[in-house]
Amino acid sequence: MGVEGLKILITGGAVGIGAGTARLAASRGACVTVSDVNDEAGEALVEEIRAADGKAIYCHADVTDDKAVSDLMFRAADAFGGIDVLHNNAGIHESMLTKELTLETMTRDIFERVMNTNVTGVWLCAKYALPYLRESRSASIINAGSTSSISGYPQCQAYGASKGAVMQLTKMLAVDLAPDGIRVNCYCPGSIHTQIVDKFLEAAPDPELMLNTMTLTHLIPRMGKPVDVAEIVCFLASPESSFVNGAVWTIDGGSLAWRGTNDMLGMEA
Ligand SMILES: NC(=O)c1ccc[n+]([C@@H]2O[C@H](COP(=O)([O-])OP(=O)(O)OC[C@H]3O[C@@H](n4cnc5c(N)ncnc54)[C@H](O)[C@@H]3O)[C@@H](O)[C@H]2O)c1
Repeated sequence: MGVEGLKILITGGAVGIGAGTARLAASRGACVTVSDVNDEAGEALVEEIRAADGKAIYCHADVTDDKAVSDLMFRAADAFGGIDVLHNNAGIHESMLTKELTLETMTRDIFERVMNTNVTGVWLCAKYALPYLRESRSASIINAGSTSSISGYPQCQAYGASKGAVMQLTKMLAVDLAPDGIRVNCYCPGSIHTQIVDKFLEAAPDPELMLNTMTLTHLIPRMGKPVDVAEIVCFLASPESSFVNGAVWTIDGGSLAWRGTNDMLGMEA
């Protein structure tokens, strides 16, 4: 049970939440394909996993490139004898590309790059993984949504639109792939401390205020950690979640459960 023996492919897996998931899944006996455009970090992670007796390979692939994605699926399946789980984790925020984040100043190119990576990339990976997932007896796709799939945030126009689309795409794929026995779920993290959040904070007019605001809405008064998300991904990948399909799973310290800030409850980060 759990993820032992499952063949899991993680896009954008070199750092952050993807890397946290790769470490956890490999430590529990999964065969992990780490894919990314950051080859140095991806290869270092795979070495680290292998040094701890885990099974992992690294494959370079840009999720927006049809041929690269098609090759990635072939290489992952060839290395481990199939693909059971596609973790569509790769994603970017506009603040990683520009400091011009208002409606007046952000360019169409930036908007389209975010949509292309976060939405088209998810769709492309699902498309090219499908023949392999159809052969699996424990097939699922797990998509990275966000609390911005559901709720509004400042300076998140492209990112929020893309993550809303990922949530809806999850449901459409869950319907269309149900006859193939492939489950499709998404999870929506709150603020998890990774480089995407660091860049977002750097771009904020008042980074300290923004950081405080992020944790203030958490009923658990801290930033999330990659392993918090990795645990849910491993659960969604495992046979224990075999009746979970088309779901939107929040991992947000409770921030979407209410409309307050935790200082009102006398809590301190
Ligand atoms: N950190 C958070 O608070 C948070 C919250 C909600 C959702 N998420 C989502 O979780 C996912 C992972 O986020 P993270 O915080 O670990 O980010 P991160 O920036 O630390 O890692 C993202 C990884 O994706 C890779 N990547 C970017 N574009 C790519 C492309 N075109 N092809 C392949 N790989 C690409 C990057 O090189 C990087 O290794 C993203 O989809 C993000 O939107 C993160």
